[in-house]
Amino acid sequence: MHSTLKTIAISLVAAASLSISSIVMAVDGATLFKTKTCTACHGQNGDKPIMPLYPKLGGQNAEYLVQQMQDIKSGARSNGMTMVMKGIMGIVTEAEMKTMAQWLASVK
Ligand code: HEC
Repeated sequence: MHSTLKTIAISLVAAASLSISSIVMAVDGATLFKTKTCTACHGQNGDKPIMPLYPKLGGQNAEYLVQQMQDIKSGARSNGMTMVMKGIMGIVTEAEMKTMAQWLASVK
């Protein structure tokens, strides 16, 4: 009896963690770009920045975008405009950078 309950409990925990990880994986670049508030400065699809001084991201190469985000986060890229962007990089992981960069590259 006890071991049956234990088995049920273990499979419930396993099922729960499985569904959690699939939810995390289901978050796509477009959604990330919105929920991380990137759209506020770069526009809905990263192609319409709110200021002419802000870069267009849509259609850019994914590898380049990831590299720039890493450089801005680490401080390797630093100019008069970088401070505006640096703060937000604190809430973005490397995996999220890649997901968003891949989606941005696909925006035409
Ligand atoms: C407050 C405005 C603002 C927000 C919010 C913002 N950015 Fe930026 N972003 C900028 C500015 C300004 C630059 C240019 C920085 C520089 O010149 O160093 C930039 C640069 C970039 C670059 C480099 C582009 C290039 O051509 O080199 C990428 C990639 C980028 N942002 C992605 C993002 C992502 C992804 C988010 C959301 C997590 C985001 N940005 C949120 C303002 C913003």
